[in-house]
Amino acid sequence: MHPIGVFDSGYGGLTVLREIVARMPQYDYLYLGDNARAPYGTRSFETVYKYTLQCVEWLLQQQCPLIILACNTASAKALRSIQQMDLQRLNPTARVLGVIRPTSETIGAYTRTGNIGILATRGTVQSNSYALEINKFFPQLHIAQEACPMWVPIIENGEHEGAGADFFVRKNVAQLMAQNPKIDTVLLACTHYPLLEQKIKAALPQGVQVVSQGGIVANSLQDYLHRHPEIETQITRQGNRLFYTTDSVADFNSHAAAFYGAGVSANHVDL
Ligand code: DGL
Repeated sequence: MHPIGVFDSGYGGLTVLREIVARMPQYDYLYLGDNARAPYGTRSFETVYKYTLQCVEWLLQQQCPLIILACNTASAKALRSIQQMDLQRLNPTARVLGVIRPTSETIGAYTRTGNIGILATRGTVQSNSYALEINKFFPQLHIAQEACPMWVPIIENGEHEGAGADFFVRKNVAQLMAQNPKIDTVLLACTHYPLLEQKIKAALPQGVQVVSQGGIVANSLQDYLHRHPEIETQITRQGNRLFYTTDSVADFNSHAAAFYGAGVSANHVDL
């Protein structure tokens, strides 16, 4: 089997995998959630790079010709180093792609006022990757960013429907809008955040739209595979979906459906 590898610090990447599988069910997929070491969003550059590299090495050992880092924090802090320093040594024909570039290429098409708000982990905001990437494609846009360090822990602990989630969503959304009241488009730049989408919409002023990444990343991957037959033809097509977690399989199986939209039966791996 030569599946497409999809990686996240925990469950969030399942919101991306769900959209990818919906558009391209024919391929085999292998998902790895590093739940034992999540969240990544509050960790240093060195730590996120080290953890992500270990996960990429494992996915390459599982024969993935293509790996998607379905995690903004890993895409911001580890992707470039892995592409430029490690892949040549590990497997020069394999490819590792992130989620920040495809999102940045597209997000300008959503706004009418030219004012975009980014909600993300502290690591993604501090890297400034979104402001830099979006400005390459849409230099006229105004970008405001708000770090939401409590959101991933709330979601990973299954508290996203509770009153504690309401408190932190309202707080961070208000802080984002205070930076620039002209924002008409809010990007959920963390793959966990779609689970808070209803609360985020409720906390935003009327007329502000919320954009999730899953569909954007899936469309971009489809386009990439059309343009890269040398990669596409390596991917096996038996419709397999394999799920691995670095933490408890029972926990993964009970939480995953909220993100993936269907039940899963995961395996454990020690990294
Ligand atoms: N889903 C990851 C992201 O997109 C969450 C990061 C974390 O583990 O804090 O950034």
